[in-house]
Amino acid sequence: MIQAPSKAMSETGDPLLLTPGPLTTSKSVKEAMLHDWGSRDSAFIRMNSEMRDLLLDIAGADPQTFAAIPIQGSGTFAIEAMLTTFVPRQGHILLIVNGAYGHRAKEICRIAGRGLTLYESPEDALPSVDEVEAILKRENSITHLFVVHCETTSGILNPIEEIARLARMYQKDLLVDSMSAFGALPLNCDRLQLTAVAASSNKCLQGVPGIGFVICNLASLESAKGNATSLVLDLQDQYQGFKRNGQWRFTPPTHAISAFRQAIEEFQLEGGLVARNRRYSNNCRILIEGMTKLGFKPLLSTNLQAPIIVTFRMPADPKFIFSTFYDELKRRGYVIYPGKLTVADSFRVGCIGALDAEHMHGFIEAVREILLTMAIDLCAPLVSIRSPE
Ligand SMILES: Cc1ncc(COP(=O)(O)O)c(C=O)c1O
Repeated sequence: MIQAPSKAMSETGDPLLLTPGPLTTSKSVKEAMLHDWGSRDSAFIRMNSEMRDLLLDIAGADPQTFAAIPIQGSGTFAIEAMLTTFVPRQGHILLIVNGAYGHRAKEICRIAGRGLTLYESPEDALPSVDEVEAILKRENSITHLFVVHCETTSGILNPIEEIARLARMYQKDLLVDSMSAFGALPLNCDRLQLTAVAASSNKCLQGVPGIGFVICNLASLESAKGNATSLVLDLQDQYQGFKRNGQWRFTPPTHAISAFRQAIEEFQLEGGLVARNRRYSNNCRILIEGMTKLGFKPLLSTNLQAPIIVTFRMPADPKFIFSTFYDELKRRGYVIYPGKLTVADSFRVGCIGALDAEHMHGFIEAVREILLTMAIDLCAPLVSIRSPE
């Protein structure tokens, strides 16, 4: 008799999201949304002020020098707000790109009419710090640098410290997209002397979607007055609003904020960034070891891999139909993500969110079961695109 597959579920009976976000959240985070708040109510204003202070703390940002500015919307809203607030209309930004989110930043700068230089490296390789330096030497009109912390397209961990060193050395303003890394991978705004870093509520801090935020240097924010080319994405004006009366300029995502406040509390109870990094790294290790044993090949070598999301090459076996694999996983309670690479056919599995070792072992077991039912005997990819660096 064929046994029904065991079904994994979150605390509230939903499938587990092994994706780059939105992610599986705890029941208590969801429960924090069971109330209504007036946006001008003092308890709500206090909640916002606590949230902003705690974000600074997580970013290693001195409140005398930095501000945390939340903005309504998804992560891209925060990225666009950061780029268009800090890069003046006559500015010139060097975009370090090795994936789709770097390209998205380019698109934002292009539409906003900001001068840009693109330095692009392959999706499965680190940007060369020497080449970035050569561009900085060559093009002295460059005012800003942009880099993605963990490029979620592949899962690669970019050399943020070295890029920050170059930014300091050449006195450029550094803007960082730390969307998929913030709260799980170390990033110290003070030490790295960052101009700004953008992230969102629904990634490694395990809140629900709806809030982007930018942590930025106050002196740079002051000199960014008048740069904005959008009303709603003007971080300078958003900050002035908070300074004036602690309120959002426009209707705040009240429920998402309450959930985020709860999520940050849970982040602290878990043991902060160190503990979260440890749990995600363990999830990532179980995932890679288990999938490798089943014959799958990760795109990146371990030294390039961030413990956030893992890209696997699509198996060569023609019996491996990704849509069937996806549906069977979903039936067993696991949602994964299609690939976003241009260099190879792939799919992605996330290790972030309210997931632990037991969930990851359950996922590997589900994959093993599905491979048996699909009669797949070769999970290796057809050709190697390049040997990992
Ligand atoms: C590195 C990075 N930047 C930007 C974004 C865009 O965020 P959103 O989809 O919330 O707009 C994502 C989303 O996954 C991301 O991983």
